[in-house]
Amino acid sequence: MKTYLVTGGAGFIGSNFILYMLDRYEDVTIVNVDKLTYAGNLENLRPVEGNPRHIFVQADICDKAAIEDLFRKYDFDYVINFAAESHVDRSISDPEIFVKTNVLGTVNLLNCAKQAWQTGDDAFKAGCKYLQVSTDEVYGSLGAEGFFMETTPLDPHSPYSSSKAAADLFVKAYADTYRFPVNITRCSNNYGPYQFPEKLIPLMINNALQRKELPVYGDGMQVRDWLYVEDHCKAIDMVAREGRLGEVYNVGGHNERPNLAIVKTILSYVKEHVDAGVGEELIRHVTDRKGHDRRYGIDPEKIRRELGWYPETDFETGIQKTIQWYLTNQEWMEHVTSGRYQEYYEKMYDSK
Ligand code: NAD
Ligand code: TYD
Repeated sequence: MKTYLVTGGAGFIGSNFILYMLDRYEDVTIVNVDKLTYAGNLENLRPVEGNPRHIFVQADICDKAAIEDLFRKYDFDYVINFAAESHVDRSISDPEIFVKTNVLGTVNLLNCAKQAWQTGDDAFKAGCKYLQVSTDEVYGSLGAEGFFMETTPLDPHSPYSSSKAAADLFVKAYADTYRFPVNITRCSNNYGPYQFPEKLIPLMINNALQRKELPVYGDGMQVRDWLYVEDHCKAIDMVAREGRLGEVYNVGGHNERPNLAIVKTILSYVKEHVDAGVGEELIRHVTDRKGHDRRYGIDPEKIRRELGWYPETDFETGIQKTIQWYLTNQEWMEHVTSGRYQEYYEKMYDSK
């Protein structure tokens, strides 16, 4: 039996990872620590409700006593750190919480894991590993040519990506200084079920289903490299089990698209399959994001070559599955868009 400490497991990618792992392996137990911020939702974990191999604990990753307590209670083999403030727009209006959770929270987890796993000078419990779930945004922005490699210098621009880069450097420092066993994954933009509708794809699906305007920042020609969330989960699982200690692995599927093309794809699907009254007149170009990165694009050659990872879901299939999921889970959408989030969203949207 392998025991995982998964942080941020009530969020988008963390919950998909827990569902993926518990479905795939009989010999995995997951302790899921989540603060349940606006982005965390236990409804994401309904499919594993009552499963004794999933243990939920509401706590902040910055809370030293709470995390130490978990390391006393459980003999973890892996820590997978998903917990983060994850939205660039929020980081522009309120950077401090990004430093607290993304940087200080990561350092607290590293410290607690190091303390619990250390068996001697530079020696740690056999087989244990800390995996930091990072992002391609730490590399900054690309021009028309080229891709992010693991060796690309870090050049983050937003408070979000800067906080993630800072966290990555602490993870590296633990590996370099203490020989602490780590990996870092840097993935491109994810999409799929359970993504909070402040992010491009679920926001546009939700607005299209409600015949609301679709706010496209600036000219909409910024490029993101989209990966179906389950393929990211598979990559994290492979890196945790087989990744070479101390290494960084980029994760992406060469699926670059401009934002406007994504929005049009969603509109045309909704028009054809759900509501013939929906069309491109709903697109509204709004003020661009400050410091908006123009293009992200991952070179996934290292993870393919070393671990045999490849994306299984192509974009056409993934986006259809995703739109269908939001269609059949409108109650989920109602729950996450009511209350605090809704107020925030109205404020952001009105100011554009
Ligand atoms: P999310 O915002 O959907 O979920 C984050 C989760 O972390 C939520 O459940 C939230 O409650 C929890 N959380 C926040 N602060 C916490 C704290 N202080 N203590 C404990 N829990 C806390 O984010 P996501 O999209 O699922 O992203 C997960 C991770 O993957 C992040 O580290 C993000 O940087 C990284 N990532 C995301 C993407 C993407 O496209 N979404 C791509 C690459 C990497
Ligand atoms: P987002 O989903 O916030 O991810 P990230 O900024 O981390 O890549 O945004 C994806 C792209 O979509 C980004 O270029 C900003 C753009 N965008 C819009 O044009 N309109 C929106 O309402 C949102 C949320 C994003």
